[in-house]
Amino acid sequence: MRSFSLAGFALLLDQVHCHINSLAVPKPLENSSPVSRDFQSFSIEFAFFPDYAGNQSHPNKFSKNLLGNFKSITGVLPKVRVGGTTQDKANYFPDQEEGIKLIFEKPTDDQPDQINYGPAFFESYHTLGNIHFFHGLNMNQNSSMAQLTEAAVVACQSIGPQLELYELGNEWNYASENYRSGNYSELDYVQEWNRKTSLVQAAVQKACPGLIPGFMAPSFILMDETDSSGWTAEELYKLGYDPKFLTRELSFHNYMGANAPSNPPAALQLQETLMNHTNIVSNLAAQIERSHNLAYLGHPYTLGELNSMANQGINGVTDVFGDALWLVDFSLWAVAHNFERLHFHQGLNYRYASWQPIVSEGELPATRPPYYGQIMVASAIGHAENAHIVNIPLSEDAEAAYAVYNGEKLSKLVAVNMRAHNATTTGSRPSREYKFKVAGDCHAKVERLIAPGCDSLEGVTFGGVSYDYSLLGGMPVVIDKREETLSAKSGVLSVDVPDSSAVLVSFF
Ligand SMILES: *[C@@H]1O[C@H](CO)[C@@H](O)[C@H](O)[C@H]1NC(C)=O
Ligand SMILES: *[C@@H]1O[C@H](CO)[C@@H](O)[C@H](O)[C@H]1NC(C)=O
Ligand SMILES: *[C@@H]1O[C@H](CO)[C@@H](O)[C@H](O)[C@H]1NC(C)=O
Ligand SMILES: *[C@@H]1O[C@H](CO)[C@@H](O)[C@H](O)[C@H]1NC(C)=O
Ligand SMILES: *[C@@H]1O[C@H](CO)[C@@H](O)[C@H](O)[C@H]1NC(C)=O
Repeated sequence: MRSFSLAGFALLLDQVHCHINSLAVPKPLENSSPVSRDFQSFSIEFAFFPDYAGNQSHPNKFSKNLLGNFKSITGVLPKVRVGGTTQDKANYFPDQEEGIKLIFEKPTDDQPDQINYGPAFFESYHTLGNIHFFHGLNMNQNSSMAQLTEAAVVACQSIGPQLELYELGNEWNYASENYRSGNYSELDYVQEWNRKTSLVQAAVQKACPGLIPGFMAPSFILMDETDSSGWTAEELYKLGYDPKFLTRELSFHNYMGANAPSNPPAALQLQETLMNHTNIVSNLAAQIERSHNLAYLGHPYTLGELNSMANQGINGVTDVFGDALWLVDFSLWAVAHNFERLHFHQGLNYRYASWQPIVSEGELPATRPPYYGQIMVASAIGHAENAHIVNIPLSEDAEAAYAVYNGEKLSKLVAVNMRAHNATTTGSRPSREYKFKVAGDCHAKVERLIAPGCDSLEGVTFGGVSYDYSLLGGMPVVIDKREETLSAKSGVLSVDVPDSSAVLVSFF
């Protein structure tokens, strides 16, 4: 389509017409690694995994459909980490008949305080198709090492080849506030983790020879507001962490902020914190720096648990369409900085969940707006084995653009317009025109991520497709048949993007 001579011609025309307002599309950096097709992945709260996956007699087909949609788009299934705060409150009982027993301190709590699970818990690993899992082990329980190694052994025996890695402990840079005395040091953690993972490794080697998964680690949360421990991942390795090289992937946790009573009103938070490229860049800066500092270890860098706002999210901020726009920009910024995978955290009735898997607390099963953001990111990545994504700098906070390359070839463009537009606003919806300098008079397909407004809880589509539970149980349903195409003119491709929406432009 775009021959070399055409490209040269377009460049010349550009200079002649002097498109000072059109955006140059940068090439990917030479040292950037190809994007993983399972980049959009999931983390499911340990206590709520059976609610998401179901069990052998009651498999959750809705969850299976929603995960399966990614394979249709990228050719691979997402990976699922089963863990979180409740993993360090979960104990395995080989004689327990029920898969899981949840004990809540207060019935209104978001999470149970104690989790007892038995062999039937592991049925949930066989209801979602050929997903690869990260299984969380409880680092807090220390009365019986046998209980820990038993849990690791039943996991390798039950999950089998679908067990990707273990994880021991969740956010232990918080340990002295949650699980250990205040003088528990980073070195204490290093020694405890080294000792316990050695025991796990030895038990698994014996029970599951030929299948010896390593670990994702250290699963620290990095948030300026919350990390008062002063522990750093850089220091961790200097203190002798993981002398047996059991780690296969670095995992850190990330949130943009937290649900707190002192937060500003929802609409303000949505624009300032989430629908704000500048804030996303500043939020991810520490993770990016750490990924560089730890590159010498040679491990892939993942966010093994993340979502928009910690403490399970905020109504009106993380459950609305604006969160999906945040998710697109956040994910593409992370992938442009060579992160391997993002595991978006899920839990029953969580306010940032991509879907509600079962009826609970009066909330029906539903596909929520963030899911559509994930579908758009997966669509930007697509099937290509050699995709590279690069940011196209824009001038304002509430907008972002990216280019997707397949090898050397520009294959797609993304523009995200995060200026707030409410569903209830009357009158016309403002829109921005983005002009990209491209080579030649190429043609492209346009798919839009759109909803009535950034405050919408439903009515979201990507490329005219809905994944609603009520339509086809999470399978794609075309509800807007219009197909939109664009052609570049004199080497400039212009696309209109309404406020609070995003576009994916794919060249053909
Ligand atoms: C399987 O799931 C159903 C529905 O949630 C539940 O009633 C049943 O107890 C579960 N089975 C086991 C063995 O936990
Ligand atoms: C494990 O031991 C530490 C002190 O060594 C203690 O603070 C903690 O409560 C213990 N955890 C459990 C679950 O017993
Ligand atoms: C930490 O403090 C506890 C008592 O609060 C004490 O038993 C323990 O020995 C101390 N540990 C270290 C490493 O100083
Ligand atoms: C976006 O975030 C930056 C950095 O946190 C902040 O300075 C700026 O005011 C925010 N912009 C908007 C429109 O809220
Ligand atoms: C959207 O609605 C919220 C809540 O009613 C309001 O605070 C906010 O200013 C509105 N935003 C726009 C862009 O109209």
